[in-house]
Amino acid sequence: MEIDGLAAVVTGGASGLGAATARALSDAGAKVAVLDRDEEAARAVADDIQGLAVGCDVSDADSMTAAMAVASAAHGPARIAVACAGIAPAARLIGRGGAEPADVFDKVIAVNLTGTFHLLRLAAAEMAFAPTLNEDGERGVIVTTASIAAYEGQMGQIAYAASKGGIASITLPAARELARFGVRVASIAPGLMATPMLLGMPDAVQESLKATTVFPRRLGKPTEYAWMVLQIVENPLINGEVIRLDGALRMAPK
Ligand SMILES: NC(=O)c1ccc[n+]([C@@H]2O[C@H](COP(=O)([O-])OP(=O)(O)OC[C@H]3O[C@@H](n4cnc5c(N)ncnc54)[C@H](O)[C@@H]3O)[C@@H](O)[C@H]2O)c1
Repeated sequence: MEIDGLAAVVTGGASGLGAATARALSDAGAKVAVLDRDEEAARAVADDIQGLAVGCDVSDADSMTAAMAVASAAHGPARIAVACAGIAPAARLIGRGGAEPADVFDKVIAVNLTGTFHLLRLAAAEMAFAPTLNEDGERGVIVTTASIAAYEGQMGQIAYAASKGGIASITLPAARELARFGVRVASIAPGLMATPMLLGMPDAVQESLKATTVFPRRLGKPTEYAWMVLQIVENPLINGEVIRLDGALRMAPK
Protein backbone atom coordinates (compact mmCIF):
# COMPACT_ATOMS: atom_id res chain seq x y z
CA MET A 1 0.00 0.00 0.00
CA GLU A 2 1.40 3.41 -0.88
CA ILE A 3 1.64 5.55 2.24
CA ASP A 4 1.60 9.01 0.69
CA GLY A 5 -1.60 10.90 1.50
CA LEU A 6 -3.13 8.23 3.76
CA ALA A 7 -4.55 8.83 7.24
CA ALA A 8 -2.57 7.08 9.99
CA VAL A 9 -3.16 6.71 13.72
CA VAL A 10 -0.39 5.73 16.12
CA THR A 11 -1.22 4.92 19.74
CA GLY A 12 1.62 5.57 22.15
CA GLY A 13 2.86 8.00 19.50
CA ALA A 14 4.19 10.47 22.05
CA SER A 15 7.30 8.46 22.91
CA GLY A 16 9.76 5.78 21.88
CA LEU A 17 8.72 3.39 19.11
CA GLY A 18 5.41 5.16 18.50
CA ALA A 19 7.02 8.59 18.13
CA ALA A 20 9.60 7.23 15.66
CA THR A 21 6.77 5.59 13.73
CA ALA A 22 4.67 8.77 13.66
CA ARG A 23 7.67 10.67 12.27
CA ALA A 24 8.50 8.01 9.67
CA LEU A 25 4.89 7.80 8.47
CA SER A 26 4.74 11.57 8.20
CA ASP A 27 8.04 11.62 6.25
CA ALA A 28 6.43 9.11 3.88
CA GLY A 29 3.52 11.50 3.32
CA ALA A 30 0.87 10.19 5.76
CA LYS A 31 -1.46 12.44 7.75
CA VAL A 32 -0.69 11.26 11.26
CA ALA A 33 -2.78 11.34 14.43
CA VAL A 34 -0.71 10.82 17.58
CA LEU A 35 -2.88 9.16 20.26
CA ASP A 36 -1.42 9.02 23.75
CA ARG A 37 -2.41 9.42 27.38
CA ASP A 38 0.38 12.02 27.63
CA GLU A 39 -1.31 14.74 25.61
CA GLU A 40 1.46 17.29 26.03
CA ALA A 41 4.15 14.93 24.72
CA ALA A 42 1.79 13.87 21.92
CA ARG A 43 1.40 17.52 20.94
CA ALA A 44 5.17 18.00 20.82
CA VAL A 45 5.50 15.13 18.33
CA ALA A 46 2.43 16.18 16.35
CA ASP A 47 3.63 19.79 16.08
CA ASP A 48 6.92 18.58 14.57
CA ILE A 49 5.17 16.61 11.85
CA GLN A 50 2.13 18.80 11.18
CA GLY A 51 0.07 16.01 12.69
CA LEU A 52 -2.78 15.86 15.17
CA ALA A 53 -2.40 15.13 18.89
CA VAL A 54 -5.27 13.37 20.65
CA GLY A 55 -5.20 12.57 24.35
CA CYS A 56 -6.72 9.19 25.20
CA ASP A 57 -6.48 6.10 27.34
CA VAL A 58 -6.21 3.06 25.06
CA SER A 59 -7.63 0.79 27.75
CA ASP A 60 -10.89 2.76 27.91
CA ALA A 61 -13.39 1.97 25.13
CA ASP A 62 -15.15 5.35 25.26
CA SER A 63 -11.88 7.28 25.29
CA MET A 64 -10.57 5.33 22.29
CA THR A 65 -13.85 5.68 20.38
CA ALA A 66 -13.76 9.45 20.92
CA ALA A 67 -10.07 9.72 19.96
CA MET A 68 -10.55 7.76 16.73
CA ALA A 69 -13.54 9.97 15.85
CA VAL A 70 -11.43 13.12 16.32
CA ALA A 71 -8.66 11.67 14.13
CA SER A 72 -11.03 10.58 11.39
CA ALA A 73 -12.90 13.91 11.38
CA ALA A 74 -9.56 15.65 10.76
CA HIS A 75 -7.85 13.24 8.36
CA GLY A 76 -10.52 10.87 7.02
CA PRO A 77 -10.84 7.16 7.85
CA ALA A 78 -7.65 5.55 9.15
CA ARG A 79 -5.84 3.45 6.52
CA ILE A 80 -2.79 2.78 8.68
CA ALA A 81 -3.14 2.03 12.41
CA VAL A 82 -0.18 1.24 14.63
CA ALA A 83 -0.55 0.12 18.25
CA CYS A 84 2.47 1.21 20.27
CA ALA A 85 0.92 2.24 23.60
CA GLY A 86 2.12 -0.04 26.34
CA ILE A 87 3.42 -0.39 29.88
CA ALA A 88 5.85 -2.88 31.39
CA PRO A 89 5.69 -3.01 35.20
CA ALA A 90 7.11 -6.10 36.86
CA ALA A 91 4.63 -8.66 38.21
CA ARG A 92 5.09 -12.02 39.88
CA LEU A 93 2.91 -14.85 41.09
CA ILE A 94 4.06 -14.81 44.70
CA GLY A 95 5.78 -12.29 46.97
CA ARG A 96 6.97 -12.26 50.58
CA GLY A 97 3.39 -12.19 51.83
CA GLY A 98 2.18 -15.05 49.64
CA ALA A 99 0.09 -14.78 46.48
CA GLU A 100 0.47 -11.43 44.75
CA PRO A 101 -2.69 -9.38 44.20
CA ALA A 102 -4.05 -9.19 40.66
CA ASP A 103 -4.10 -5.41 40.23
CA VAL A 104 -0.85 -5.04 38.25
CA PHE A 105 -1.74 -8.02 36.08
CA ASP A 106 -5.19 -6.60 35.34
CA LYS A 107 -3.77 -3.17 34.51
CA VAL A 108 -1.14 -4.51 32.09
CA ILE A 109 -3.70 -6.65 30.29
CA ALA A 110 -6.08 -3.68 30.10
CA VAL A 111 -3.50 -1.31 28.58
CA ASN A 112 -1.42 -3.64 26.41
CA LEU A 113 -3.90 -6.27 25.26
CA THR A 114 -7.36 -4.69 25.56
CA GLY A 115 -5.89 -1.39 24.33
CA THR A 116 -4.59 -3.16 21.22
CA PHE A 117 -7.98 -4.84 20.76
CA HIS A 118 -9.70 -1.44 20.85
CA LEU A 119 -7.40 -0.05 18.16
CA LEU A 120 -7.86 -3.18 16.04
CA ARG A 121 -11.66 -3.11 16.15
CA LEU A 122 -12.08 0.65 15.77
CA ALA A 123 -9.51 1.04 12.97
CA ALA A 124 -10.83 -2.06 11.18
CA ALA A 125 -14.36 -0.65 11.25
CA GLU A 126 -13.14 2.57 9.58
CA MET A 127 -11.07 0.70 6.99
CA ALA A 128 -13.74 -1.88 6.13
CA PHE A 129 -16.19 0.75 4.92
CA ALA A 130 -13.68 2.94 3.06
CA PRO A 131 -13.02 2.62 -0.70
CA THR A 132 -10.31 0.24 -1.91
CA LEU A 133 -6.91 1.78 -2.56
CA ASN A 134 -5.30 -0.41 -5.22
CA GLU A 135 -5.80 -3.35 -7.56
CA ASP A 136 -5.30 -5.88 -4.74
CA GLY A 137 -8.34 -4.33 -3.08
CA GLU A 138 -6.40 -3.15 -0.05
CA ARG A 139 -8.26 -0.86 2.34
CA GLY A 140 -5.87 -0.61 5.24
CA VAL A 141 -3.11 -2.12 7.37
CA ILE A 142 -2.96 -2.55 11.13
CA VAL A 143 0.35 -3.12 12.91
CA THR A 144 0.48 -4.16 16.56
CA THR A 145 3.43 -4.39 18.92
CA ALA A 146 4.09 -7.65 20.71
CA SER A 147 7.51 -8.39 22.24
CA ILE A 148 9.95 -11.27 22.37
CA ALA A 149 8.58 -11.59 25.93
CA ALA A 150 5.62 -13.27 24.20
CA TYR A 151 7.95 -16.26 23.73
CA GLU A 152 10.73 -15.90 26.33
CA GLY A 153 9.22 -13.93 29.17
CA GLN A 154 11.63 -13.45 32.03
CA MET A 155 10.97 -13.92 35.71
CA GLY A 156 8.90 -10.89 36.76
CA GLN A 157 7.20 -10.62 33.38
CA ILE A 158 4.08 -12.66 34.18
CA ALA A 159 1.73 -9.81 33.27
CA TYR A 160 3.77 -8.34 30.41
CA ALA A 161 4.41 -11.72 28.78
CA ALA A 162 0.71 -12.61 29.05
CA SER A 163 -0.29 -9.35 27.38
CA LYS A 164 2.27 -9.71 24.59
CA GLY A 165 1.45 -13.38 24.05
CA GLY A 166 -2.17 -12.30 23.62
CA ILE A 167 -1.17 -9.68 21.05
CA ALA A 168 0.89 -12.23 19.13
CA SER A 169 -1.98 -14.75 19.22
CA ILE A 170 -4.66 -12.42 17.88
CA THR A 171 -2.60 -11.48 14.81
CA LEU A 172 -3.63 -14.44 12.65
CA PRO A 173 -7.34 -14.56 13.56
CA ALA A 174 -7.54 -10.79 13.04
CA ALA A 175 -5.88 -11.10 9.61
CA ARG A 176 -8.22 -13.95 8.71
CA GLU A 177 -11.33 -12.03 9.78
CA LEU A 178 -10.36 -8.80 8.03
CA ALA A 179 -9.09 -10.36 4.78
CA ARG A 180 -12.46 -10.07 3.07
CA PHE A 181 -12.34 -6.31 3.69
CA GLY A 182 -8.86 -5.95 2.19
CA VAL A 183 -7.31 -5.16 5.59
CA ARG A 184 -4.00 -6.73 6.59
CA VAL A 185 -2.81 -7.25 10.18
CA ALA A 186 0.75 -7.91 11.30
CA SER A 187 2.65 -7.62 14.56
CA ILE A 188 6.22 -6.72 15.41
CA ALA A 189 7.93 -8.46 18.34
CA PRO A 190 10.85 -6.20 19.26
CA GLY A 191 13.80 -7.30 21.35
CA LEU A 192 15.52 -4.61 23.38
CA MET A 193 14.94 -1.13 22.03
CA ALA A 194 16.44 2.15 23.25
CA THR A 195 13.28 3.95 24.38
CA PRO A 196 12.19 5.61 27.63
CA MET A 197 10.49 2.33 28.62
CA LEU A 198 13.78 0.44 28.63
CA LEU A 199 16.06 3.33 29.59
CA GLY A 200 13.84 3.89 32.65
CA MET A 201 14.75 0.49 34.08
CA PRO A 202 17.45 0.20 36.80
CA ASP A 203 21.03 0.27 35.39
CA ALA A 204 21.71 -3.28 36.57
CA VAL A 205 18.66 -4.56 34.69
CA GLN A 206 19.67 -2.66 31.56
CA GLU A 207 23.22 -4.03 31.71
CA SER A 208 22.06 -7.61 32.15
CA LEU A 209 19.65 -7.18 29.24
CA LYS A 210 22.31 -5.66 26.97
CA ALA A 211 24.68 -8.51 27.81
CA THR A 212 22.26 -10.94 26.19
CA THR A 213 22.19 -9.18 22.82
CA VAL A 214 23.75 -11.17 19.96
CA PHE A 215 24.31 -9.09 16.83
CA PRO A 216 24.37 -6.19 16.56
CA ARG A 217 25.54 -5.95 20.19
CA ARG A 218 23.49 -2.91 21.08
CA LEU A 219 19.94 -1.86 21.77
CA GLY A 220 17.66 -1.50 18.77
CA LYS A 221 16.89 2.00 17.57
CA PRO A 222 13.29 3.25 17.43
CA THR A 223 13.89 4.14 13.76
CA GLU A 224 14.62 0.46 13.07
CA TYR A 225 11.17 -0.40 14.41
CA ALA A 226 9.63 2.39 12.30
CA TRP A 227 11.30 1.00 9.13
CA MET A 228 9.61 -2.32 9.80
CA VAL A 229 6.23 -0.60 10.10
CA LEU A 230 6.78 1.12 6.75
CA GLN A 231 7.77 -2.18 5.15
CA ILE A 232 4.68 -3.95 6.54
CA VAL A 233 2.42 -1.22 5.18
CA GLU A 234 4.10 -1.18 1.77
CA ASN A 235 4.56 -4.94 1.25
CA PRO A 236 1.19 -6.57 0.43
CA LEU A 237 2.39 -10.09 1.24
CA ILE A 238 3.05 -9.41 4.91
CA ASN A 239 -0.12 -10.53 6.65
CA GLY A 240 -1.09 -12.55 9.72
CA GLU A 241 2.53 -12.74 10.90
CA VAL A 242 4.46 -11.75 14.03
CA ILE A 243 7.91 -10.54 13.00
CA ARG A 244 10.76 -10.70 15.51
CA LEU A 245 12.97 -7.61 15.41
CA ASP A 246 15.67 -8.56 17.85
CA GLY A 247 19.11 -9.22 16.30
CA ALA A 248 18.86 -12.94 17.28
CA LEU A 249 18.35 -12.13 20.96
CA ARG A 250 16.77 -14.88 23.08
CA MET A 251 16.08 -13.62 26.58
CA ALA A 252 17.66 -15.32 29.61
CA PRO A 253 15.43 -16.60 32.46
CA LYS A 254 16.10 -13.44 34.53
N1 LIG B 1 11.46 -0.68 24.40
C1 LIG B 1 11.56 -2.00 24.24
O1 LIG B 1 12.62 -2.61 24.46
C2 LIG B 1 10.36 -2.80 23.80
C3 LIG B 1 10.55 -4.14 23.50
C4 LIG B 1 9.47 -4.91 23.09
C5 LIG B 1 8.21 -4.34 23.00
N2 LIG B 1 8.05 -3.03 23.30
C6 LIG B 1 6.69 -2.48 23.19
O2 LIG B 1 6.70 -1.39 22.31
C7 LIG B 1 5.62 -0.51 22.64
C8 LIG B 1 6.18 0.90 22.74
O3 LIG B 1 7.08 0.93 23.83
P1 LIG B 1 8.23 2.03 24.00
O4 LIG B 1 9.45 1.30 24.34
O5 LIG B 1 8.20 2.97 22.86
O6 LIG B 1 7.69 2.71 25.35
P2 LIG B 1 7.49 4.24 25.77
O7 LIG B 1 7.22 4.18 27.23
O8 LIG B 1 8.58 5.09 25.24
O9 LIG B 1 6.14 4.65 24.99
C9 LIG B 1 4.90 4.12 25.35
C10 LIG B 1 3.86 5.20 25.12
O10 LIG B 1 2.58 4.63 25.44
C11 LIG B 1 1.83 5.59 26.12
N3 LIG B 1 0.80 4.95 26.93
C12 LIG B 1 0.99 4.12 28.00
N4 LIG B 1 -0.19 3.75 28.50
C13 LIG B 1 -1.15 4.34 27.74
C14 LIG B 1 -2.56 4.34 27.78
N5 LIG B 1 -3.26 3.66 28.73
N6 LIG B 1 -3.24 5.05 26.85
C15 LIG B 1 -2.57 5.77 25.91
N7 LIG B 1 -1.22 5.81 25.84
C16 LIG B 1 -0.52 5.11 26.74
C17 LIG B 1 2.85 6.33 26.98
O11 LIG B 1 2.36 7.61 27.41
C18 LIG B 1 4.03 6.43 26.02
O12 LIG B 1 3.99 7.61 25.24
C19 LIG B 1 5.04 -1.05 23.94
O13 LIG B 1 3.89 -1.80 23.65
C20 LIG B 1 6.12 -1.95 24.47
O14 LIG B 1 5.61 -2.98 25.29
C21 LIG B 1 9.07 -2.23 23.71
